[in-house]
Amino acid sequence: MSNNLNILLDGKKVSGHKNETILKLANRHGIEIPTLCNDPRLEPYSSCYVCVVEVEGMKNLQPACSTLLTEGMVLSTNNEKVRKARKAALDLLLSNHYADCLGPCVQTCPAGVDVQGYISMIEKGKYRDAVAIIKETNPLPAICGRVCVRPCEVACRRNLLDEGAAVGIDYLKRFAADRDLESPDKYKPEQKPETGKKVAVIGAGPAGLSAAFFLRKEGHAADIFEAAPKAGGWLRYGIPEYRLPNDLLQKEVDNITEMGVNIYYNQRLGDNLSYKDLKDKYDAVILGIGSQKGTRVGCDGDDAGNVLSGTDFLKQMELTGKKMDFKGKTVAVVGGGNTAMDCCRTSLRCGAEKVYVIYRRTEKEMPANPIEIHESKLEGVEYMFLTNPLRINKDENGNLKSVTCVCMELGEPDASGRRRPVPLEGSDFDIELDYMLAAIGQKTEVNFIDDINTHAENGQLVVNKWGDIDADKHTLQTGIPSVFAAGDGVTGPATLIEAIAQARIASHSCDLFLQGEAVRPMKKEFISKKENFKEQHKEDYLGKFVTQKRHEMPTLPADARNNFEEVELGYENEEVAITESHRCLECGCVEFFSCDLKDLSSEYNAEQKRYEGEFKQFEVDFRHPYIEFDNNKCILCSRCIRICSEVVGANALGLINRGFDTYVAPSMELPLQETTCESCGLCISTCPTGAIIENTKFKPGPVKTEAVETICNFCSIGCTIQLNHRSGFVMRVTGANGLVNKDGNLCRYPKFGYNFMNDHSRLKQPLFKVNGKFEPISFEQAYDLIAEKIKAVKPEENYFFAGARLSNEEMYLVQKLARAGAQTNNVSSFHYFGRGSGYRNNSLANVPLDQLEGASRFILLGSEINTDHAVAGFMIQNISFRKGTPVEVVTVLDHSSMEYKVNDVMKIKSYYHFL
Ligand code: SF4
Ligand code: SF4
Ligand code: SF4
Ligand code: FES
Repeated sequence: MSNNLNILLDGKKVSGHKNETILKLANRHGIEIPTLCNDPRLEPYSSCYVCVVEVEGMKNLQPACSTLLTEGMVLSTNNEKVRKARKAALDLLLSNHYADCLGPCVQTCPAGVDVQGYISMIEKGKYRDAVAIIKETNPLPAICGRVCVRPCEVACRRNLLDEGAAVGIDYLKRFAADRDLESPDKYKPEQKPETGKKVAVIGAGPAGLSAAFFLRKEGHAADIFEAAPKAGGWLRYGIPEYRLPNDLLQKEVDNITEMGVNIYYNQRLGDNLSYKDLKDKYDAVILGIGSQKGTRVGCDGDDAGNVLSGTDFLKQMELTGKKMDFKGKTVAVVGGGNTAMDCCRTSLRCGAEKVYVIYRRTEKEMPANPIEIHESKLEGVEYMFLTNPLRINKDENGNLKSVTCVCMELGEPDASGRRRPVPLEGSDFDIELDYMLAAIGQKTEVNFIDDINTHAENGQLVVNKWGDIDADKHTLQTGIPSVFAAGDGVTGPATLIEAIAQARIASHSCDLFLQGEAVRPMKKEFISKKENFKEQHKEDYLGKFVTQKRHEMPTLPADARNNFEEVELGYENEEVAITESHRCLECGCVEFFSCDLKDLSSEYNAEQKRYEGEFKQFEVDFRHPYIEFDNNKCILCSRCIRICSEVVGANALGLINRGFDTYVAPSMELPLQETTCESCGLCISTCPTGAIIENTKFKPGPVKTEAVETICNFCSIGCTIQLNHRSGFVMRVTGANGLVNKDGNLCRYPKFGYNFMNDHSRLKQPLFKVNGKFEPISFEQAYDLIAEKIKAVKPEENYFFAGARLSNEEMYLVQKLARAGAQTNNVSSFHYFGRGSGYRNNSLANVPLDQLEGASRFILLGSEINTDHAVAGFMIQNISFRKGTPVEVVTVLDHSSMEYKVNDVMKIKSYYHFL
């Protein structure tokens, strides 16, 4: 090509070629123009309009993928007008994209834990990988697997199916995390090199521990200062051991200290620890102080003896190591949250004769985890719903004697959306009590604030109207730029997973601050949601999935719970976990990590609801054994149709209908496998979204994978392929831009024929039969044994057979081993034994494929090229499509598989006519 066009590209003078598109010119000069409907393997089509650029002198923006250069063109590829038009194009595509990028479980989890990803790893027995995925966002999986309130399970789509129970998401997490904790090769997160920056973290509760974990991953030093004598915060001093054993908690704390985190105990900020020292020694501070100060019942007489705050009751027992003696006593717990549950169940374990929970609304409004409520009832707790303490009555010593309660009814909804309880006049009644525990809320203690503000030089720490630390809600930076805050101390009492989520945000902001960058919120990715179009109902799912009942968690029998032994025992074995993992419906998109539509929508801040209105819904087509169609995700770019026609020549796909009613379907709307489809999967390779994907037998995640490049050995073409695997489990095979398949095309054999690599029974190391039983040995031992056997006989008594799947180079080595090593000419190949038509299959062995481009005619002699050597067939087909080069087949077959796509077929009786 001659460089004869002068172009001004984003203000730079460059040379363009005749017949070159703007897109190609920009690519040559390192300027990236987004595309969706473009594939370099195909002729331009220009349907998506995300590649538009401004051409001076032209009224409308032009698609870069199909607009050819002309002399003197002045191009702007990324100005505001262009970006606005691209966003509008994306908004339009998204307005009819009825699909979920992420499952509702992930979207609902405050920390965004990749549930679908780790469930996919559990399905494969890869617990270390499952934990690695969880720990990208949650450093405490074994703890969370026990005590998380599980918003993910509430949102889980399995709830919509007839068995009506969520996937055991949290129990699966616990199973994987417990396995990993016991493993000698437990997961250790990768840590960046030391930055030399130091952060002081206040509090070794979930927020502080998590913040230290995320900071260490970034290479910053993290020292935690904890007021209590041990780590864990609320996890240790609030949650009883029958739910979260201390030794288990300690193991996850140890995992964090093993990353180089130091914890200094009995250090209370504003007391024996001053902000002044921290400011001198550290570059930043993260406050993870929790919110643990109990509140009083809030009625007359609540200062009576034996009326305790629930949090103090739980904490004191852990601090002193002594359990309260409630033997034979009657205890009432006031409140309906998880602390109330911990108090009532702990009271029973302290020997109480009778335990009541007094709650002013009904069970339906209780914020406590339903499992906790269920277990507490099993253990004998009695509930007094729609009841409120009116007055606490004291004995002569000022101690609790009884409580006067009033019955309530539910009125209009309040600000929280829950119906407000209203007292029923004249319904008062008394209950005799020995102890009362108030579990109706906690407050944040910020008595260190003066110490901080006295020594802070720029800015002040402020407390909001609820008494919690005031921090920017997107960055969690406080009024002092080097001080960040996370967890209950900011939100007021919330959940463990919310504290972890906040710690990730605060440490991300702190990391930016330490690097001297502007502190900005974490980048939000675009996420397509089905709920943006309509609520999901049972009818959308019923009948589409196999019914499978949830495996319930085995627990201690109720009569064996008079102690602090862990009640939930964990899944019985691996089989149970794997079976439960199969209940996941894989709601999120398999292309999450590679979808061009999602990536561009994130980059251009596209909105799904900008053009709200009519949208299309399709059933996913799973009928083809390898290829799955989801028209809901299709953007009608036609790449699949074009690759099937221009490269494969199969013409198995087409567009049905016109305008808004258009969709992609196999020809004649037949099942794809009943069309001329060659099952090559090139449609999958070109689809820029998740509309055409591989129909796998395993759960494909999606998970991030690593790629190993190798050469396909299914035929003699020698295509370069990539095995995309996660810890050895091959998740998909893709074409790499190899010496032969320069455009990355692959045929069906490598594309779909890889499952044998994941077979557990596959031989991965040599076995040696000892006393009639095979035992594994090393490769070195195997080589020695073979060498011994070869040497033990005369050279001519050895015979070497090379396998049919070996490459030429490997065959060469086999003959070298025979001739030079074992001194024998007894060497041959199995090649013809199994494959019969060796002559035909080898006919391409010496054809330089690059020369095909210049051919004036193709004659395929006895070659069903799209089955024998499909990638060479794709090259021929594409040349024929572009240049009209005729293709003819000479065959002995009655029906050649090529008949419908070549110019002529000559049927002959025998190939000997040509020899
Ligand atoms: S195709 Fe892309 S945008 Fe659509 S759901 Fe999948 S990942 Fe999200
Ligand atoms: S079915 Fe699976 S992907 Fe869907 S919400 Fe439940 S756990 Fe998440
Ligand atoms: S299914 Fe075909 S037309 Fe639809 S987005 Fe994928 S490649 Fe484009
Ligand atoms: S119009 Fe150019 S990539 Fe779609």
